[in-house]
Amino acid sequence: VYRVLVGAGALGRLVDDLARGRVGSLPHRPVHAAVVSDSMVAALYGRRLTEALSRAGLRSDLLVFPRGESSKTRETKARLEDRLLRLGFGRDGVIVALGGGVTGDLAGFLAATWHRGVPLIQAPTSLIAMLDASIGGKVGVDHPLAKNLIGAFHPPLAVYADTTTLETLPGPEFRAGLAEAVKCGAMVDAALFASIERDRAALLQREPGAVLRLVLAAARVKAGIVSLDERESGRRLLLNFGHTIGHAIEAASGYRLRHGEAVSIGMVLESRIAVRMGLFGQAGASRIERLLSALRLPTRLSRISLSVGSILTAAGRDKKARAGRTLFVLPSGIGRHAGGRRFSFPVPADLLRRVVSEAVSGYAPRR
Ligand SMILES: NC(=O)c1ccc[n+]([C@@H]2O[C@H](COP(=O)([O-])OP(=O)(O)OC[C@H]3O[C@@H](n4cnc5c(N)ncnc54)[C@H](O)[C@@H]3O)[C@@H](O)[C@H]2O)c1
Repeated sequence: VYRVLVGAGALGRLVDDLARGRVGSLPHRPVHAAVVSDSMVAALYGRRLTEALSRAGLRSDLLVFPRGESSKTRETKARLEDRLLRLGFGRDGVIVALGGGVTGDLAGFLAATWHRGVPLIQAPTSLIAMLDASIGGKVGVDHPLAKNLIGAFHPPLAVYADTTTLETLPGPEFRAGLAEAVKCGAMVDAALFASIERDRAALLQREPGAVLRLVLAAARVKAGIVSLDERESGRRLLLNFGHTIGHAIEAASGYRLRHGEAVSIGMVLESRIAVRMGLFGQAGASRIERLLSALRLPTRLSRISLSVGSILTAAGRDKKARAGRTLFVLPSGIGRHAGGRRFSFPVPADLLRRVVSEAVSGYAPRR
């Protein structure tokens, strides 16, 4: 059990709580904080955070890696480990992941294996990280051929999501985060989906009230699901809607597409699969596609040229694949999943191939 603190000024609270040794179940006041950030976030917020921690009497160091998904690798992790060793970072320290989902996954995995596990605090600064990646304890790195292939479960002591940091997040990154919120709504929370539809203009303008409401609602969905199914054996799989094809597109594109953008296209194609399997009505599928378009997210593969084969091969490496079959979680309505208690089920290979081929060739069936 851990606390997720969301709101303006959460980073200030993090400093106070750490200085008093009052973060989650931390057994003692940490002597050393290693703040891990990518190059962008380090420049914007990293130095400020380590200085504030030093003023509060904690030894603190900033560990920086080049920004981007291409840094979420075993190599970057090894370099950070070399740095921790040089700093003499021991079990009495705490790792703070300050940044987007890449930082959370990478620094989280670092914390999971350093000395067989040291305390971790998630301080997400991107929308994806605030409402999704920082919550749930899944950490890891990519393999050049498959996303998130190597990792662990390492829940944080606490999450501090300072929504003021979203002001500097580039527009496309912000919209990519909205895709994950749409996913939560589409799969498990019809009210959240409807509120995104209603607030879409305010969200695109990043009106603070609308953004705070969104982060709170989506983070609550994620936390609720994770607390029921920490090890991803059932309900948590629902959060993979759009991700089976999304991850495959992401990997096949050499990570040129943003995660949220790939998931947006993935949701459209997986909805289409659900419609063709007779599980989901066309009206629901169109509603998802319309909302993603209104949020200025990609819904087709036209911008990027990928081969059908490369996408299908990457999908075959999906972690949900069992006995050579790719498994999908599919909607049966807005806020409802198909498959009952099974959560995920196989999709015939020829249907998957057909839907991906249509998307690649730019053909979209009549709506
Ligand atoms: N562990 C999980 O459960 C989980 C869930 C969802 C996504 N993820 C992972 O999260 C990653 C995607 O997350 P992301 O989109 O945050 O990627 P990211 O960490 O690369 O951040 C995106 C970009 O935004 C910049 N940035 C972040 N915060 C900023 C700020 N406040 N101001 C200015 N720039 C800022 C970063 O420097 C980066 O260039 C993927 O690797 C995905 O697999 C993990």
